[in-house]
Amino acid sequence: MDENVQNKDIILEVKGLKKYFPIEKNLFGKTLRSLRAVDDVSFAVARGTTIGVVGESGCGKTTLGRTILKLYQADGGTIVYNGEDITDIGKKKMRALRTSIQLIFQDPYSSLPPRMTVGAIISEAVRVHHIVPKDEIRQYVRDIMHKCGLQPQYYDRYPHEFSGGQRQRICIARALAVKPDLVICDEPVSALDVSIQAQIINLLKELQNTMGLTYVFISHDLSVVKYITDQILVMYLGNMMELGETEELFANPLHPYTKALFSAVPVPDPDLKMDRIILAGDIPSPANPPKGCKFHTRCRDCMNVCRFKEPAFVEVGPEHKVACHLYDQEVMQHLEEYDREWARMEEERLRQEAEKEAKRKGKRSKTAQDAPAAEAVEPDEALDDER
Ligand SMILES: Nc1ncnc2c1ncn2[C@@H]1O[C@H](COP(=O)(O)OP(=O)(O)O)[C@@H](O)[C@H]1O
Ligand code: SF4
Ligand SMILES: [Mg+2]
Repeated sequence: MDENVQNKDIILEVKGLKKYFPIEKNLFGKTLRSLRAVDDVSFAVARGTTIGVVGESGCGKTTLGRTILKLYQADGGTIVYNGEDITDIGKKKMRALRTSIQLIFQDPYSSLPPRMTVGAIISEAVRVHHIVPKDEIRQYVRDIMHKCGLQPQYYDRYPHEFSGGQRQRICIARALAVKPDLVICDEPVSALDVSIQAQIINLLKELQNTMGLTYVFISHDLSVVKYITDQILVMYLGNMMELGETEELFANPLHPYTKALFSAVPVPDPDLKMDRIILAGDIPSPANPPKGCKFHTRCRDCMNVCRFKEPAFVEVGPEHKVACHLYDQEVMQHLEEYDREWARMEEERLRQEAEKEAKRKGKRSKTAQDAPAAEAVEPDEALDDER
């Protein structure tokens, strides 16, 4: 176990987690090519705290959440929950875990069944999992509704009668009614108006304090993440870029990608000039990611070594890790050698390209030589036609 993790009450520890989606198979069903949605992700979360997972759309945040929840089977690595390795547990044990780890989705509109009343929605899992005795369910659900800021008289109403913010409160009440320890919040406020977002975030914080909950909080909105998290994991194309405590990361972001993301967070002081870093270019396709550092095609600090060598995840401070060659002493001390290696690789690439081009040209001129021979046949053919 990681040194930093040893003395804490760790509820969730993810080590080298991988989730690959097959994108090309052969006739026999064997995977030929896969998309690495989550690739070698590791972190630990102490009980009662929140880890934020941030990064642009498509970087693997949702896949990470769903793999921890075991909605997807991991393709590598381990998930240790409450001291137990749950990576490969059977269905029976998983049933018990289904209440202990809950998920709150981004879209409160589509995640509520329209034909069920609010009371029925929240009490369904309470009934199935025997959370409280049958005759106490109604009162228990009304209490949870009250905690989540929903008036108990809404018990018999239907989801369509509520606004977006209230629907998200219903989703939160449904998740919390089964007394979970860990809640994975996947962009829980992204679909809501800004004014409502703050209310929901405050509610989540309040419930965390009163119920001792642990959150994995997925978001692309850093101002929200700054407010609610204790540590932040920055992801890019399925890889971890940086991991650190929230305060430390905002005060001292190191990875060029984190710097660019954080530079876009508005600051409340109008006199403070923001040095916004614009990320050049689009995110490369995760099905065909760049070699070396996956971020190198958009990094303004890119060096030759970044184009072919994948950066290691190095510890740069207490509980602060970053995957960037700039912070890897071994690499930085040998930059000239890496430059020479890159020059050799480029030379070899150009040689191979020239060889291919020459072959192409050779083929073209051969067909060109063959063509007049074919034309020479034509008069005969013409004669044939005349005959
Ligand atoms: N079920 C799936 N099958 C194939 N590819 C998927 C699947 N789910 C997600 N992906 C791909 O995995 C990558 C990460 O997706 P996702 O985890 O949804 O990212 P995020 O939540 O950060 O936007 C994307 O390129 C996405 O297209
Ligand atoms: S390893 Fe290189 S390309 Fe990647 S973030 Fe660091 S400096 Fe940029
Ligand atoms: Mg997502």
